[in-house]
Amino acid sequence: MTNKLEHIAVIMDGNGRWAAKRGLPRNAGHKKGAEVVIEVAKAAKELGVKFLTLYAFSTENWKRSREEVDGLMNLLREYLAKDFKELKENDVRIRFIGERQMLADDIVAKMEELEKSTAQNKSLGLQIALSYGSRQEILHAVKQIAAEVKSGDISLKDIDEQTFSAMLYTAGVPDPDLVIRTSGEQRISNYLLWQIAYAEFFFTKTLWPDFNKNELREIIENYQTRERRYGKA
Ligand code: FPP
Repeated sequence: MTNKLEHIAVIMDGNGRWAAKRGLPRNAGHKKGAEVVIEVAKAAKELGVKFLTLYAFSTENWKRSREEVDGLMNLLREYLAKDFKELKENDVRIRFIGERQMLADDIVAKMEELEKSTAQNKSLGLQIALSYGSRQEILHAVKQIAAEVKSGDISLKDIDEQTFSAMLYTAGVPDPDLVIRTSGEQRISNYLLWQIAYAEFFFTKTLWPDFNKNELREIIENYQTRERRYGKA
């Protein structure tokens, strides 16, 4: 029997180390990392995965140097302007999750445009976590629910796991089955804390810019050997 594999979430780590090993600036690692984003999204689609969520920039990443943050934002501008086109043509639906008010207006406008123009695409749902923090996401949902209870739109007894999930940025996306983190670090870094309750984890030493379709395939093969019990005996 094979395990259900609808959704893979990835923590793309190791861009900085990849660049340092080559004597390059950190942003050169992010640039290569962004190319891998496109390759891996296409690969996920080909391997039959329905949803892919990639951690591109956390709320904590705003604390990095001005130069690095600007470099990442400009890279994002470039991708929004042209490179996501390939995914659009590959029937990929693109959504962004995270705190938009922290991002520049021109970036948010382009993000919204891309979300709108890919909304009907069906082959792969790609979520890009940008200025994302899971605790912030949960707090945002709690405040929304509290306001709706206060206004009488919902009653306390109607709040269950489903209604709560529907208040998160990932509303409508099934929980991840598998979480992959690259670069050898073994931590979750405020990523999808609610959604990964029953996910399987895979940690690889490969740095994100070196990650590719073959490794994704191998990880999926490993995942298929696991026994998922969801807390049952
Ligand atoms: C972690 O590596 C990576 C990031 C903080 C940025 C990830 C961003 C990309 C892969 C580019 C995304 C671009 C688009 C267009 C979606 P690190 O910098 O923490 O590496 P280190 O741990 O080796 O220093």
